[in-house]
Amino acid sequence: MSQKIVGVKGMNDLLPGEIEIWQHVEGLARELFGRYGYGELRTPMVEDTALFVRSVGEETDIVGKEMYTFEDKAGRSLSLRPEGTAPAARAFIEHAIANQEPLTRWFYMGPMFRYERMKTGRYRQFYQVGAEAYGSKEPAQDVEVMDMVARFLDALGLQDITLNLNSLGDEACRPAYHAKLVEYLQAHKAELCEDCHRRMETNPLRVLDCKNEKCQAVAAQGPSVLDVLCEPCKAHFDEVQRKLTALDIRFVVNPRMVRGLDYYTRTVFEFIASHPALGTASTVGGGGRYDKLVKSLGGTDVPAVGFACGLDRLVLLLKESGRSFVQVPDLFIAAADPGSHDAAFALAGRLRHQGLRVDFDTRGGSLKSQMKRADKSGAHFTLVLGELERTSGQGKLKQMSNGQQWETALDPASVIATVRARRAEVASAPQGGTA
Ligand code: HAM
Repeated sequence: MSQKIVGVKGMNDLLPGEIEIWQHVEGLARELFGRYGYGELRTPMVEDTALFVRSVGEETDIVGKEMYTFEDKAGRSLSLRPEGTAPAARAFIEHAIANQEPLTRWFYMGPMFRYERMKTGRYRQFYQVGAEAYGSKEPAQDVEVMDMVARFLDALGLQDITLNLNSLGDEACRPAYHAKLVEYLQAHKAELCEDCHRRMETNPLRVLDCKNEKCQAVAAQGPSVLDVLCEPCKAHFDEVQRKLTALDIRFVVNPRMVRGLDYYTRTVFEFIASHPALGTASTVGGGGRYDKLVKSLGGTDVPAVGFACGLDRLVLLLKESGRSFVQVPDLFIAAADPGSHDAAFALAGRLRHQGLRVDFDTRGGSLKSQMKRADKSGAHFTLVLGELERTSGQGKLKQMSNGQQWETALDPASVIATVRARRAEVASAPQGGTA
């Protein structure tokens, strides 16, 4: 027997049965983000490696350890995108969007790639839905973005998710914080991992984001960036909090949160779920302001803020909720005898052309086996088509939930009208009723 080839570790197939949850989440995102004025952006899955090195940062785990980087046939270094902010900024600059639309709002969704240690909620190909707003430096823009995430999680029916908020300051106050942090880290050098010895010199903030437990313990006691914010950064942070409160968005200030990407200035945030199903992969979304990124990638001086949510994690939480998103057929058509198979097939086709969800067993088979399939399909109605129905042009739709039968003419318009009327009746019946 030939050897079986299996999928790549950390990269999952999404099959019917589960994909409906994904479609539900993606549909909600499209509708909701559109309501806030965000238009959809699609960028390639592959970019010049330098884009991520210069934006996400060389010392981050994402760039330093987790990127899928390869040479193409012309010797260019390319990487599968590990996130969506840098590609969006690249597109924003490349298409000179700032000249056309000074306040630009984009959202995106799609797969991202990071060579991470795999576990529940942490994959090597995972999916993000995110949004970026360019052109406003105002706290209102930060809050609009966080409000959008909060409404999104709410609309999904997800609870027990806490918004964690922090400010990382800007180029005016960050150096003072770095100095304080390095002084503290020097005093605890013996407790830090090898990587962090290097990070202390090159990018001390990254020590606060190290996954090593000992480093995390040191980081937890370290100085808070909030103590050294300059006046403008402090005013910005205060106003963000005031506006969140005005919109009834609850949050906690978490002065140790630095996020795993280098491009942030001022506001950073994470939405953290407490559901045990996610284990330590509990951050369902994160983001922040990055006022220097567009310029540093060769664009004009445009402030920006955005977020991304991990779709895999949202889907895991929705699975836990036990809600069903699978759409069952409206109608299952069975042929009572082989002579009726063609007519049943033709009717199924015509009904599908006109918008009904119809299941039909193209293999034929006994009526018993077809009815078994009808039961399994969860179809709302079944119609058995035999010689009598073919000659009279009349048939009976059986409502599977209660066994009631409904006489109908067998032309597509009449069948559709009967199905829709009965389903509307069921939908409007009081809960626990017999209709
Ligand atoms: P991030 O925190 O690296 O931020 O990722 C955002 C979200 O993607 C995480 O909160 C998590 O839910 C999900 N995620 C990350 N890695 C994985 C993984 N390996 N498996 C499953 N889910 C994962 C960013 O990517 C920024 N670009 C967000 C942003 C947008 N900041 C400003 N604008």
